[in-house]
Amino acid sequence: MEKKVIIDCDPGIDDSLALMLALRSPEIRVAGITVVAGNSPVEMGVGNARKVLSFMHRLDVPVIAGESRPLAREYVNALDTHGADGLGESFLPEIPGDPAPGLHGVTAVDFLEENLLHGGCSLIALGPMTNLARLAEKNPAALAAAEEIVSMGGNFRSYGNCSPVAEYNYWEDPDAARLVYHTMGSLGRKIRMVGLDVTRKIVLTPTLLEYMNRLNPEVGGFVRKITRFYFDFHWIQERLIGCVINDPLAVAAFLDPALLSGFDAFTDVEVQGISMGQTVVDAMKFWRKPANSTVYTEADVPAFWKMFLSRLTGVPEEEIDFPERRF
Ligand code: RIB
Ligand code: CA
Repeated sequence: MEKKVIIDCDPGIDDSLALMLALRSPEIRVAGITVVAGNSPVEMGVGNARKVLSFMHRLDVPVIAGESRPLAREYVNALDTHGADGLGESFLPEIPGDPAPGLHGVTAVDFLEENLLHGGCSLIALGPMTNLARLAEKNPAALAAAEEIVSMGGNFRSYGNCSPVAEYNYWEDPDAARLVYHTMGSLGRKIRMVGLDVTRKIVLTPTLLEYMNRLNPEVGGFVRKITRFYFDFHWIQERLIGCVINDPLAVAAFLDPALLSGFDAFTDVEVQGISMGQTVVDAMKFWRKPANSTVYTEADVPAFWKMFLSRLTGVPEEEIDFPERRF
């Protein structure tokens, strides 16, 4: 039985790889993609989502534009990381046509509210939580009605990626992240937090990219096209040969929860000062508050790559010999 999912994202290079994984996974039905300002301005994100859907021959999936700026802060994009077009300066042609036929005037918050309240729908959040926060403001019960919420964001013991202590999605809109975590906790729900502690372990290397190309030149060529800029960014910023692909791990964790392990805790988000955007995970229960998050600290990296490579290339998992010979 396939699971209905809405993916809220800010495409974005790794968001795009996550969309590809989701669209190639028969266990889930992507009911829609809601876009939020983050890596890219929201309209650019809509266009990039459509470019990915077109490559995947899935333009049937509606793409709905959401919030164009954070709840309170100034909007800060991440085009320095994702390229001027938000897709690794691949400068793929824009896809003509209506991104969401029959949904005119329907906002991302409306789309989320209607589908989550209907039941049986999960939410995979890959960008700043602004759309989710606007839903929490409008109808918190709708947000809490999600079967599951898996969020790529935050960090426990890992260092930040846009400040010494903060991860971009929650730093770009800390007020939104805080409201969402508090809302979910107050309604007895937990967010599955796929943070930098586990996503940093997912590094697309030149070897892996070459392997992908050998397995499926069309898909490998597309991935190479949109990640080239990202490889350069990681070399310049961290002297890393490869690129950390955060968002696909959140999709993989939804597909197979056993890929990750961690613990439940109350998590809060700092909204001001030098540690703005930091997730403060109360692992030792000092505050004696009910858990509002499952914080992941360990990942089965070979199992992730088997899943990711198999589904994107179409080669059966049992034929993917990556972990033994190529890691
Ligand atoms: O910090 C990494 C996250 O921020 C990823 O989701 C990336 O796409 C950006 O949105
Ligand atoms: Ca993202």
